[in-house]
Amino acid sequence: MFGKLSSRDLLFVAVGAASATALYWCTSKLSETLTDKGLRSNQGKGRNGAKESNETFLVSPERLKKFVESVFLKCGLGSDDAKIAAEVLILADLRGIDSHGVARLMAYFSMLKNKIINPTPNIRIIRETDSSATVDGDNGLGLVVGPKCNEIAMMKAKKAGTGWVSVRNTNHFGIAGSYPLESLKHDMIGISMTNSGSVVSPLRGKERFLGTNPIAIAFPGTNKERPMVIDFATSVVPWGKVEEYSRQNKPLSSNWAIGKDGKQCLDPDVVLKEGALLNLGGQRETSGHKGYCLAAMVDILCAVLSGGNWGPTVDGFTTNEVNYGDSTAEGRCKDNNSLGGNNRIKGICHFFGAMRIDGFRDVEAFKETMDKWMGTFRRCKPIDQSKPVMIPGDPEWAAFEERSKTGIPVKLAVCADMVDISKECGVPLPFDESKVDFSGVKRVVIATT
Ligand SMILES: NC(=O)c1ccc[n+]([C@@H]2O[C@H](COP(=O)([O-])OP(=O)(O)OC[C@H]3O[C@@H](n4cnc5c(N)ncnc54)[C@H](O)[C@@H]3O)[C@@H](O)[C@H]2O)c1
Repeated sequence: MFGKLSSRDLLFVAVGAASATALYWCTSKLSETLTDKGLRSNQGKGRNGAKESNETFLVSPERLKKFVESVFLKCGLGSDDAKIAAEVLILADLRGIDSHGVARLMAYFSMLKNKIINPTPNIRIIRETDSSATVDGDNGLGLVVGPKCNEIAMMKAKKAGTGWVSVRNTNHFGIAGSYPLESLKHDMIGISMTNSGSVVSPLRGKERFLGTNPIAIAFPGTNKERPMVIDFATSVVPWGKVEEYSRQNKPLSSNWAIGKDGKQCLDPDVVLKEGALLNLGGQRETSGHKGYCLAAMVDILCAVLSGGNWGPTVDGFTTNEVNYGDSTAEGRCKDNNSLGGNNRIKGICHFFGAMRIDGFRDVEAFKETMDKWMGTFRRCKPIDQSKPVMIPGDPEWAAFEERSKTGIPVKLAVCADMVDISKECGVPLPFDESKVDFSGVKRVVIATT
């Protein structure tokens, strides 16, 4: 079924029980580096003694990217678009953001297969000034619409000094941080935001009215310092974290989520089915109102400004509607968008910004001051000597460096998804299936939030 593996590939493929210990050591070392991200947890066995489902298989980034690109091609994307989409997706895995990388491929694949997403969108500017544009994404894959609209923002910034693009009728665009990273290549400060399927309750509410609406912004230093990349969801955790906990049969932390009764809920499966996440900050006492304000800002810049779907009117675009509970957005909000009826605008919305640094200050002077800023903050006296102050972006750069060298640890549940995709569309897997023990792996249907 699979082509002969080269010795380089074999190096990347962790096999069977014998190598599991080494793999675990490797991933747990990385986990230590990334503890502050709170993304990893390699503790504990699953229910009924099942094999821990966050065990991983190391796969070469290049092979993984090729697999994703080939799957997108099979789904009808053009060759350039498939390449762009695969780049953005694998960047998430390389940067250690496992919830938004190849783990989401099954969701994208299902949406493309079921014709929920348009594989060949006609992405068009519907209104513009020298420095701003509103774009209609024609219900394309966000991993394609996003990079193209970010490009428009950068083109406008090149001419006008700054560029701002609000996008409607698009879909999930992966990690928000991948877009500002592009702006850095042109000595610009980049900003990106997106709204997403509603799974977050506004402070004091107990319904799913907001997405996890992430914000990202990046600032360059000189080559001595890696760029600062600020990139986070405006919910207390992303939805993908609830899915991760569900796979691991782990209770959620307190102050993360509520059940449909509005009371705190620690069971990830209940939250996935009918609960809601809280805004960044959690409850009022822990500043949940500020997270709500940030989420509202993202929703308005992305969706109200572009004339797209906002708040509870955003379709989940999930592969499994159970993830979004039983009260549909349309049922909850009659005035769901300006077009209405069969012409309803689909999907979600994004917002991109690009600012030429030289519009404000000499680029090299800015970068040197950024280096000083970062160096100064690194030298702040830590509370705990073993945990120095970090700069936003540090955990992801550490993951990037490590994974670029050693490969991407793909969770077995995600490998199992890839096996299904491979069988369905005839694209060879980037690992040897016969070497993976899938027993006890808990499959969680991934929503694109
Ligand atoms: N497309 C979507 O709909 C969507 C929705 C939600 C989240 N996401 C993505 O999910 C990813 C993860 O989001 P998250 O909310 O879990 O992020 P997070 O909680 O891991 O926070 C990440 C940010 O905090 C910084 N950081 C972490 N520890 C730090 C420390 N000790 N000191 C200084 N900075 C530190 C990181 O560098 C990064 O900028 C993001 O890439 C986001 O864009 C996407």
